Amino acid sequence: MDALLTVAEYEAAAQELLPPGIWDYLSGGSGQERTLAANVDAFARLALRPRFLVDVSEPDLSTTLLGARLPTPIGVAPVAYHRLAHPEGEVATARAASLLVVSVFASRTLEEIAAAAAGPLWLQLYWFRRREVVTGLVRRAEDAGYQALVLTLDTPRVGRRLRDVRRGFAIPAGIVAPNLEAAVMAGTHEAVDGESALARHSREQFDPALRPADLAWLCAQTDLPVLVKGVLTARDAELALAHGAAGVVVSNHGGRQLDGAVASVDALAEVAAAVGGRGPVLLDGGVRTGVDVLRALALGASAVLVGRPALWGLAVGGESGARAVLDILAAELEDAMVLSGRPRLSDVDSSLLAGVQRP
Ligand code: FNR
Ligand code: LAC
Repeated sequence: MDALLTVAEYEAAAQELLPPGIWDYLSGGSGQERTLAANVDAFARLALRPRFLVDVSEPDLSTTLLGARLPTPIGVAPVAYHRLAHPEGEVATARAASLLVVSVFASRTLEEIAAAAAGPLWLQLYWFRRREVVTGLVRRAEDAGYQALVLTLDTPRVGRRLRDVRRGFAIPAGIVAPNLEAAVMAGTHEAVDGESALARHSREQFDPALRPADLAWLCAQTDLPVLVKGVLTARDAELALAHGAAGVVVSNHGGRQLDGAVASVDALAEVAAAVGGRGPVLLDGGVRTGVDVLRALALGASAVLVGRPALWGLAVGGESGARAVLDILAAELEDAMVLSGRPRLSDVDSSLLAGVQRP
């Protein structure tokens, strides 16, 4: 096989390898999948304005995020059940990633992942009705050395993902979420025709009444920084920061929740302006090239996360496949920084983008 040179080539290879039901769960979005498509299309519309007569002989992709030095501004978004893509699951991803946000639905234990990790780990949480499930996970994350928590706001319930509904998709019995009690997760394995088991499960287990005071309560339970994920408006960024959040992840859950929601990169400038440097602003959704990373940084992102691309790499080649995908993005980003006359991340701002208001 020829070497795969792009994330898109990993996507195609992963589709060949994965069973169709798993592929649909991984790649699909909600509703008409408009937001899923918009996430990618919105990046392509952002044209760049390179400059020259700049010394680009020593490009530097490194950055600092919540006190941790990272070799690149590219991390892995929280994605449930990496073992759907590869038997080693999150342990392989953690070896490859310089920053991994571990899903609360990870298919390896928090401690196994921590033992393998090459870089910082953050733990993503959903707002379970049983609050002791949340606090128990917070304690375990602290004890295992996780460096931040990420509370996902955009999922009071799982969206209508029609591919999963049509298949009656459920998580295969051999793949479990071992960080949660079996009783809490039993419903995810019960296949029912015409129903997504994950959607049904979320209605039973997730508390849809998550309010600002609950965020403040969570922040008070821990010394770890708490970021909120799923922010698409200045209003929510303001509210979250006012109630203790240390930063935000601009995201529409990869087009899997509200179909028709704004493409995440199109929401970035508004959110970054609202945060105004008070904490990190990450972005995920539709990042498929290093040029996309550069575009997000130009619009105010501190770093980006990739969800599906990491899983495509994992499906194709386990740890080395995931690493290859992240290396492709980093190499493309370095090229784009050199070719646009922005050799350091601190040189990257909105002057790089055509048609964006510059202060
Ligand atoms: C996700 N995402 C997600 N988000 C979250 O907060 N907790 C989770 O458990 C999951 N699980 C999950 C599973 C799968 C299969 C996918 C594809 C996504 C959303 C994820 O963190 C991220 O927002 C998107 O994946 C980003 O979009 P891209 O990079 O996949 O386009
Ligand atoms: C998903 C849920 C588990 O996006 O967050 O599939």
